[in-house]
Amino acid sequence: MGEVICLLEMRGIDKRFGAVVALKNASLTVKEGEIAALAGSNGSGKSTMVKVLAGLVAPNGGEIFIDGKKVEIKSGTDSVKEGFATAFQDLSLIPTMSVKDNILLGCELKTKGGFVDEKESRKVVQELLDRFHIDCDPDDYVQTLMPSTQSMLEVAKAVFRKPKFLLLDEVTASLHYDEIETLFGIMRELKAEGVSMVYVTHRMNEIFQICDTITIMRSSETITSGQVSDFTLDDIVYYMTGAKPKHHEGTGEVSAEDYTDRELVVDIQNLSIAPKVKDISMKAYRGEIVGIGGLEGQGQSEVIRAILGAVKKDGGSISYLGKPTKYKAPADGVKAGIGFVSGERNNEAMFPIRTISENIFAGNSAKGKLFKFLTSKEVKKFSQDAVDTYNIKIGKLKDPASSLSGGNQQKLVVARWIAMKPNLLLLDDPTKGVDIHSRQEIHDIIRDCAANGMTVIISASDTEELMDISERIYVFYEGEVAAMLAGENKTPEHLVSAMMGIKSSEKEVE
Ligand SMILES: Nc1ncnc2c1ncn2[C@@H]1O[C@H](COP(=O)(O)OP(=O)(O)OP(=O)(O)O)[C@@H](O)[C@H]1O
Ligand SMILES: [Mg+2]
Repeated sequence: MGEVICLLEMRGIDKRFGAVVALKNASLTVKEGEIAALAGSNGSGKSTMVKVLAGLVAPNGGEIFIDGKKVEIKSGTDSVKEGFATAFQDLSLIPTMSVKDNILLGCELKTKGGFVDEKESRKVVQELLDRFHIDCDPDDYVQTLMPSTQSMLEVAKAVFRKPKFLLLDEVTASLHYDEIETLFGIMRELKAEGVSMVYVTHRMNEIFQICDTITIMRSSETITSGQVSDFTLDDIVYYMTGAKPKHHEGTGEVSAEDYTDRELVVDIQNLSIAPKVKDISMKAYRGEIVGIGGLEGQGQSEVIRAILGAVKKDGGSISYLGKPTKYKAPADGVKAGIGFVSGERNNEAMFPIRTISENIFAGNSAKGKLFKFLTSKEVKKFSQDAVDTYNIKIGKLKDPASSLSGGNQQKLVVARWIAMKPNLLLLDDPTKGVDIHSRQEIHDIIRDCAANGMTVIISASDTEELMDISERIYVFYEGEVAAMLAGENKTPEHLVSAMMGIKSSEKEVE
């Protein structure tokens, strides 16, 4: 039997951005019809590897082979010619163009006469949308679609190009549970057709679910690779971080009685916000970490934004520190000592072209402490402290925030708000795209803050994250509270069944 030639092989890839080393002798191999996971901490170089193959980043050294033959990928066109299509972590769709035009961009369908074939275009785009279960019109503008729909479209666009190699960079970060199932189904079909895939994710369960091989990066280098079945979760974390993973006990279990002498910070009664939130009542006490669980889109984001004053309520009441809130805009909530971190960082939380330093400081200036009264030295120290505490991998403080890797951008947003020391911190899926190790570090910091009296309300799509950090969990289902889990009731099994809308018959702690 002949030796199996790797279909795709990256060897000894180097890449520097100024003083930042993004890749150092990095390698990756993928065989035909194989799904290769590319894992590693935030800033370890995963997206840069993908961008080298996409022709967006020119490496300083190294070689790429396809079918044993050396290839040069100098541009996006070269990449397409070699059979690559990419779905990027930060979407490549053009928001002001229609769904149809985005999908057909660069591969417009023409009639024999050389005109754009409108009828055929519509038909193929509709077929693609159906295959991906994307519920929108081909003429909808991309910017009007939900973030999850946009992510799905990003993948659909890549698949439409019928690639030999499909590169998927953290595409499930914004996807709902059912969308992920659809995507995995399509990936299995493509695999059977012989398409090879590179799959970047921070969700460890996905690696075990869908990937054949794994390549692990740490600090710009390839540390190890092999069959997924030869790795345990702890192995992966070990190779990613170089340290043995620490396992948290579910800390801070409190019984119902403990609440009576704690100050009530947030009291929500029968809140409704059309169309998603129907009847939500929940409480959060001083120094408590309250989780909001549920499948995506059950009203979590709306409730969190309503507390801040970013979304108007239709009915019910929200009290903060004993008084009904009357915020007209989020700025009012912020002035009252409320902080807010969202996982949708590009839309809501980050200023990509401003410097890292300015981004970290933005929270404090929003709170009313004006920028100009602080010396640049003070701003610099404040920012440097945050960068150190949160382990944000940066070049220089003066670099634009957009130079950071996706997960490091998210850490920056979290750092900014926690550094502001709000009285109440609202977190809407805050660790989206943050690697497993940094996530645990952020949790430690949040626990510290709560121990010092900060109240935290956190929604997370990741059930493990919720179990790990929350003292109590309100589980939302179709805009209502399906269960409130605390103490002995707070188990993964109860969480998952409540998420599916199964009401627990046990008496809930209140
Ligand atoms: N255009 C750029 N300019 C400067 N530095 C960059 C640029 N792109 C990437 N880097 C740096 O290169 C390193 C690797 O980044 P990369 O985006 O590949 O990380 P990643 O593994 O994808 O991380 P994440 O999990 O957070 O997405 C980081 O330190 C990042 O700040
Ligand atoms: Mg990345």
